[in-house]
Amino acid sequence: MKVSVIGAAGGIGQALALLLKNNLPAGTDLALYDIAPVTPGVAADLSHIPTNVSIKGFSGEDPTPALEGADVVLISAGVARKPGMDRSDLFNINAGIVKSLAEKIAKVCPTACIGIITNPVNTTVAIAADVLKKEGVYDKRKLFGVTTLDLIRSEAFVAELKGKDPLTMDVPVIGGHSGVTILPLLSQVEGVEFSHEEVVALTDRIQNAGTEVVEAKAGGGSATLSMGQAACRFGISLVKALQGESNVVECAYVEGNGKHARFFAQPVLLGKDGVEQILDYGPLSEFEKSALDGMLETLVGDIKIGEEFVK
Ligand code: NAD
Ligand code: LMR
Repeated sequence: MKVSVIGAAGGIGQALALLLKNNLPAGTDLALYDIAPVTPGVAADLSHIPTNVSIKGFSGEDPTPALEGADVVLISAGVARKPGMDRSDLFNINAGIVKSLAEKIAKVCPTACIGIITNPVNTTVAIAADVLKKEGVYDKRKLFGVTTLDLIRSEAFVAELKGKDPLTMDVPVIGGHSGVTILPLLSQVEGVEFSHEEVVALTDRIQNAGTEVVEAKAGGGSATLSMGQAACRFGISLVKALQGESNVVECAYVEGNGKHARFFAQPVLLGKDGVEQILDYGPLSEFEKSALDGMLETLVGDIKIGEEFVK
């Protein structure tokens, strides 16, 4: 297995690379790429950690050496929010970055699974999909918007509120990855009861948790360390499934049956070729049903912006 991290010199990229160096299965090759010249140095630094994961770093204009032979490509290349910005404000810069990286992937490693972290995820995933489609290599089982941060936040916040062990929490989150499109299914958390007021407040906190970090960092960027953890969890699940482990389930933003929107985050069973099965997200409470209805116009609009951009 070869895993490539693109945007590897950034806040997320470095945290993710550190976690992957320590947690990927033995024998995995890890490749780091970023336009920043420090990237080979980041890899040299990490190579001194004694694990059975080999690591190489590349910088410059061309990601080809990092992408060659990749099975999994995790992309966090692009700009992050500052206070007062919405994720959609990142579109102007990040859309072009994701487009050109997807064009490269189509040529160099067209069968790789791709996890997109770069915001606005609701839109950048649509861009990557349509670029790959144009290049004739799109396989919807292999493209993911990484929404795992919404899951780990939900686990942390529910455990904090209810005095539970965060390591045992499991909270599905469906929809997309911004504002109202983030919908935690609190009604499905086992062994925990919430009042209506708690559901409203907790849902709002999870939907705005990115902004909570952006404001706390006061101009120094957005979530990087928790995102590194989230992307590592997702990347390792994907690698394990590709290697044949069964029953690997994660929520991710994927192209499914189009019931709600072309792309939608929900639980997926991962397998040897990426998404093996899109799983039903189960029964929703009245609150969740109405939140789902209320998000769809935004989500569909976000996706359309990406589709129009590629056209
Ligand atoms: P950062 O600025 O710390 O790092 C971004 C890195 O991308 C930089 O090192 C930069 O040199 C690199 N880069 C820019 N253009 C590139 C290109 N064409 N090829 C390769 N590398 C390139 O930012 P960050 O905090 O790591 O955030 C990165 C992105 O992830 C942002 O768009 C942010 O909004 C997003 N994000 C997503 C989630 C999520 O849940 N999906 C969570 C947090 C952040
Ligand atoms: C997050 O949820 O933390 C990320 O999407 C970054 C952001 O801009 O909020």
